[in-house]
Amino acid sequence: MKILEELYHRHLSCTEGHPATYIPELAKANVKNFAIVIATVDGEIFKVGDHDVEFSMQSTSKPFSYGMVLQEMGRDFVMSKVGVEPTGEAFNSIVELEKNTHKPYNPMINSGAIAISSYIKGQSFEGRVQSMTKAFSQFAGHDLRIDDVIFESEKTTAHRNRSIAHLLRHFGVIDGKIEESLDLYFKQCSFMVNTVDLAVMASTLANKGIHPKTKVRALSEDYTGDVLSLMFTCGMYDTSGKWAYSVGIPAKSGVSGAIFGVIPGKMGIAVYSPPINEHGHSVRGMRVFQDLSKELNLSIF
Ligand code: DON
Repeated sequence: MKILEELYHRHLSCTEGHPATYIPELAKANVKNFAIVIATVDGEIFKVGDHDVEFSMQSTSKPFSYGMVLQEMGRDFVMSKVGVEPTGEAFNSIVELEKNTHKPYNPMINSGAIAISSYIKGQSFEGRVQSMTKAFSQFAGHDLRIDDVIFESEKTTAHRNRSIAHLLRHFGVIDGKIEESLDLYFKQCSFMVNTVDLAVMASTLANKGIHPKTKVRALSEDYTGDVLSLMFTCGMYDTSGKWAYSVGIPAKSGVSGAIFGVIPGKMGIAVYSPPINEHGHSVRGMRVFQDLSKELNLSIF
């Protein structure tokens, strides 16, 4: 696709942003890596750049675990535990949990996502990791793996997330298995994908939960709207309003430098480039989405 080539060359020289450093393994990322992929609901793939370079999903995992838990536990249970309002705060903020509702505002921020991971069913920790791996792999259409080095790197430095989890326990949002809940969350953040995988996972959401090629249902159609509306209002954290205004596409970012977006009924889009801004979004990723939305008229408005 010509426009992908154009966008790649337009934004390749961007020098803004830095790879995340608070998870030491992420700091090693190559700042030059840059890929843009579109995966349509018909199963077509358009790609440019370093689309086969692997990265950890980080927060781009949150919509998928939310969908999985909605399906396993039902909407009423999930809504009773985690809200659907944007916070206007950073992704790792603890302030609104402490000050206001005493339950996470939404499942796209860390407090909500840690709570969601804690509800994943299973007889043992390994069983819970396996069922999460199965669910994520169905979105991608092949088996995904968890990177243990990234998992350990996050686990040993996650003081803020650990404090969020303890506060969640204090307010009765999660049960007493605090470390296990955190480990599930760190494992989900450590799923390895490339940009094609992420775009295909997005296209499964665009296709009402059915993988465009394998035709396997990864998520009940009843819940794709829940996931996409939360991505739209909360997926870009404290810049979600600006994103809705300037891009108009439900999206989710991750600190490894990925952003994916979903055009319902049409396509999934993923951009990967490690330098991120102060909100945790890939700088090249944001620019590509802004341009692509305008040039292909993709805003849902
Ligand atoms: O909780 C964390 O700090 C990370 N594992 C994920 C955060 C993240 O990707 C935020 N997104 N932009």
